[in-house]
Amino acid sequence: MAEIEGLHAENAEQIEALRIKYLSKKGAISALMNDFRTVAPEQKREIGQKLNALKTAATDKLEALKNQYQQTDHIDDSIDLTRPAYPDEVGTRHPLSLVKQEIIDIFARLGFSIAEGPEVEDDWHVYGALNFADDHPARDMQDTFFIQQNPIVVLRSHTSSVQVRTMGQQKPPIRVVCPGRVYRNEAISARAHCFFHQVEGLYIDKNVSFADLKQVLLQFAREMFGPDTQIRLRPSYFPFTEPSAEMDVSCTLCKGKGCSMCKGSGWLEILGCGMVDPNVLEASGIDSKEYTGYAFGMGVERIANLKYRVKDLRLFSENDQRFLDEFEAAH
Ligand code: PHE
Repeated sequence: MAEIEGLHAENAEQIEALRIKYLSKKGAISALMNDFRTVAPEQKREIGQKLNALKTAATDKLEALKNQYQQTDHIDDSIDLTRPAYPDEVGTRHPLSLVKQEIIDIFARLGFSIAEGPEVEDDWHVYGALNFADDHPARDMQDTFFIQQNPIVVLRSHTSSVQVRTMGQQKPPIRVVCPGRVYRNEAISARAHCFFHQVEGLYIDKNVSFADLKQVLLQFAREMFGPDTQIRLRPSYFPFTEPSAEMDVSCTLCKGKGCSMCKGSGWLEILGCGMVDPNVLEASGIDSKEYTGYAFGMGVERIANLKYRVKDLRLFSENDQRFLDEFEAAH
């Protein structure tokens, strides 16, 4: 009897094991019941009562164990087991990373490799080697963040600095794209920020011509914005290219008819480009009589704006989850 009182179980399997041990047809109590036949008649009454009490005690005990187990371990009323599970939250890639990668992938297919460099740079790599005159306004405090004056250390204002580094390290043919963050001392608004991202490109070899540049940029525009995209090149000026141009693509929204996005012109400006100025090649020790090259540079935010129609540049750096979640399904 004391043995029955002291029984203990922690889960349904253990309870079932106890039932088999004591109460099943081959269990201990059934065995005692079978032995009852052999008990002397004058003892039958007393032993019969004890046996019945034992059986009742064992049955009650098992029932009690079952109840206890079900209440404490198994079913917790505070949990609704029919409620659907929360899906795992997976992060999304930032829209600028998506667009940067897309740009890089297109140029990688065209044979360009990736070159990267530091964001904190000296004057030579950002301006000097790129044919900027000493009094060029970009070198002014108004446009550039200076870290140190003597010798000059700045936050790079374009990734052309990486092109200078590449020209210093590699021999032509050179074919690289330089993605990265750049800094300009501008008031923050919907249309300007003190930092943004660029992908610039450089190709130097024998007999590289403006026609090669145009063809690569047309291919890029069509892969980025669709096969019907048109491009146009307008003459422009950069200290490090000659001739220089700015490239427009036919408006991605109205397809060139004229709308509010392209301000009625049918065209959207997306990048600057040109033939590398011989002075720039010479500054990096490349013989400008033997080699020619082209360069181009674009803003990743600008391309992302056109692709996803984001109107306010600040959204890219505010980390508002509602904005970032929009891009979950994009790739
Ligand atoms: N470096 C220029 C800029 O930041 C872009 C550019 C690169 C223009 C290469 C022409 C050639 O605006």
